[in-house]
Amino acid sequence: MDGNGRWAQRRGLARTEGHAAGETALFDAVEGALDIGVRWLTVYAFSTENWKRPADEVRYLMRFNESLLMRRRDELNAKGVRIRFAGRRDWRVPKRVLRRMVESADLTARNRRMTLTMAFNYGGRAEIVDAVRALVADGVPADHVDERAIAKRLYWPDMPSPDLVIRTSGEYRISNFLLWEIAYSELVFTDVLWPDFRREDLFEAVREFQRRERRYGGVDKA
Ligand code: IPE
Ligand code: MG
Repeated sequence: MDGNGRWAQRRGLARTEGHAAGETALFDAVEGALDIGVRWLTVYAFSTENWKRPADEVRYLMRFNESLLMRRRDELNAKGVRIRFAGRRDWRVPKRVLRRMVESADLTARNRRMTLTMAFNYGGRAEIVDAVRALVADGVPADHVDERAIAKRLYWPDMPSPDLVIRTSGEYRISNFLLWEIAYSELVFTDVLWPDFRREDLFEAVREFQRRERRYGGVDKA
């Protein structure tokens, strides 16, 4: 969900206004995803690198995410959305925010229409490091280490590999998002800044996805 700061700056607003405006984009995208039957949606809300931002902005983002969960979880629950979080639950995440995360996940744990995973204090490399730590802690011998052994120690082993990754705001990078999981994902880049993103932009990305031919390293069947 990139481009909040630039969206705000272009309007002469504080960067944090861009984050606030991103909420509308998120809920429109979720609504659109539900409409077209998307079962798994993962959004990058806060990265392990975002702690480098000015303290004011970090504080704002923590409070904003907390309040968003409190204000919106019932509505997501009513729509059949299961809320999950992927990332490190380390000391830097305020206790109150962690509490809301646990509450929201518990509240929606039985929903199956869609799983909305919020990558929060998430880093793709950190996730792989955590999986390797778990391997070592489990005493897995070197010759038993394979892709399955790593994959089942990721944050959510039941999450299917993403079909499509959408990067907004005209940046052509992955920026540490789901590194392991996106090995064969289709990537779609759009110049739209996140606060301007709407379900139509999601549909456009899905249409682009449908035009792609996926071979997974093999050859065309025809
Ligand atoms: C993404 O928007 C939101 C978060 C990282 C929380 P940015 O804040 O990165 O916006 P730009 O990239 O500065 O425009
Ligand atoms: Mg950015």
